Amino acid sequence: MSATITLKQLTDQLQALEAEAAAAIGAAADPAELEQLRVDLLGKKGRLSGVLGAMGRLPGEERPQVGQRANVLKEQVQSLLGERLHQLQSSALADRIARETLDVTAPCRYVPPGHRHPLQATVEEILDIFAGLGYRVSEGPEVESDHYNFTALNIPPHHPARDMQDTFYLAPGADGGERLLRTHTSPVQIRHLEANPPPVRIVAPGRVYRRDAVDATHSPVFHQVEVLALDEGLDFSHLRGTVTTFLQRFFGDLPVRFRASYFPFTEPSAEVDVRWRGRWLEVMGCGMVDPAVLEGLGIDPERWSGFAAGLGVERFCMVRHGIDDIRRLYTSDLRFLEQF
Ligand code: DAH
Repeated sequence: MSATITLKQLTDQLQALEAEAAAAIGAAADPAELEQLRVDLLGKKGRLSGVLGAMGRLPGEERPQVGQRANVLKEQVQSLLGERLHQLQSSALADRIARETLDVTAPCRYVPPGHRHPLQATVEEILDIFAGLGYRVSEGPEVESDHYNFTALNIPPHHPARDMQDTFYLAPGADGGERLLRTHTSPVQIRHLEANPPPVRIVAPGRVYRRDAVDATHSPVFHQVEVLALDEGLDFSHLRGTVTTFLQRFFGDLPVRFRASYFPFTEPSAEVDVRWRGRWLEVMGCGMVDPAVLEGLGIDPERWSGFAAGLGVERFCMVRHGIDDIRRLYTSDLRFLEQF
């Protein structure tokens, strides 16, 4: 038989184990560590089993004392493990609650909801009406050449629109070609027809430039929408019907009147007025596409005919909303813009 062991030695060992266990359990940082401690202390090959194994070397009558002491220790360790686990779980929960705290008294971050600028809304409304009539949107550059802005539109060299007073001319481009800021959206007619053979039905919105002094009704930068329809068999009644339908959808069911006028790129040409609040207001220009324009594009005017129209978006917007000064549309004053 191996060396004997005394009751005192065993109880001292149990005492020491209890103190050590209490310290280790108290220091455990998470549930996994606790589980490891439980296995080390109380498991089959654990420390307590080691001590109990040595109990066989005690005289028989002393064994129950050690057994009792061991049971107390076992319960003690189990309850320490349970308490520590509970502690760890509740402090993890408290941490998480602290991390996820929502301060409902904090001042909110207010991002005011924006909306479209009245000019943009007007453009979109106009495009929508024409989309409903089967038109597609086409766009062109704001920096144009003399050819597209004037010559191709049958605007002769001496035409006053070419005057330094009216047009912003730019330094020549890299290829030496003359450049200017387009004075109207009509060049999109030419560009579109060069790239798309008839039949075409397009609306072309965009920014245009003129050397005008700023006042209540003039701005050197403004917006237009161009309309072009080219097909077989189109005549003035189609122009009249389309323009009237468009204006009545935009302004309401008001009287519309056509007055003979002149534009170099249309023949015949007309100016269109709507009866608005007791007055005739001029709102757009239009006409049948001049055969000279089509010939310049190599399109046979005997086969293809059509109409064009152009309007100023600012004017449509101002009439519709009763705005008295064009400058209000450009100053970004929220007290004004919020009304739309
Ligand atoms: N381009 C003209 C302007 O800016 C407006 C215009 C008139 C366009 C008649 C057209 C048209 O297409 O047929 O004053």
